[in-house]
Amino acid sequence: MTDCANLTLPPDISHTSADIDIRAAEQTWIRIPRKTDAAAIHRLISECPPLDLNSVYTYLLLCEHFPRTCIVAGRGGTLDGFISAYLPPQRPGTLFVWQVAVHERARGKGLARRLLSELLQRPGLDAVQYIETTVGPENAASRGVFTGLARQLDAHVHEEPCFQPELFGAESHEDEPLLRIGPFGAA
Ligand SMILES: CC(C)(COP(=O)(O)OP(=O)(O)OC[C@H]1O[C@@H](n2cnc3c(N)ncnc32)[C@H](O)[C@@H]1OP(=O)(O)O)[C@@H](O)C(=O)NCCC(=O)NCCS
Repeated sequence: MTDCANLTLPPDISHTSADIDIRAAEQTWIRIPRKTDAAAIHRLISECPPLDLNSVYTYLLLCEHFPRTCIVAGRGGTLDGFISAYLPPQRPGTLFVWQVAVHERARGKGLARRLLSELLQRPGLDAVQYIETTVGPENAASRGVFTGLARQLDAHVHEEPCFQPELFGAESHEDEPLLRIGPFGAA
């Protein structure tokens, strides 16, 4: 069983309250973000290159206006994972995933995949049949996450040009082609 699958403490009356405190601190929680998470999300993203670091205000907006399509995970009082996503108004049935971040200390345990699966199971997202995201050609981790998800969903992956480097103006930014995964049914 992966760490992130272990979301509840098994009932076990043989443990002392100190044992339970320690185990609760190790337990991974996953939930809808709140605006009080925005500063910690900003810090997490700053520690997860090559993601673009947006302003704290951007993360406040995501927590305040898009909590049902975003997700956070952590252990104790520490934030380990975050995904921002939204439903593009002109594309019914499509969830656009913006940033996926798992802190180094929590990587390699299936947390990113778990967060994406949890999102797709949210009430209100059951009509989603496609996931879109943009992924730099050099971002092997990101490609690994999304091709793994497509495999899990038994869904096709289509890639097409989206945000070319010149669209970023003076900022030097790599190409951001679009990956479209789907159609798929219930995750
Ligand atoms: C990418 C990132 C989110 C992965 O988080 P994670 O919790 O370690 O990922 P998971 O353990 O859930 O792995 C999910 C899949 O991605 C693959 N993967 C994860 N890291 C990878 C890497 N560095 N290179 C290639 N594949 C990788 C895993 O092998 C797994 O594939 P599978 O589904 O075929 O088994 C994390 O490394 C990160 O935040 N990186 C920096 C920010 C970034 O690049 N974000 C964009 C990601 S979409």
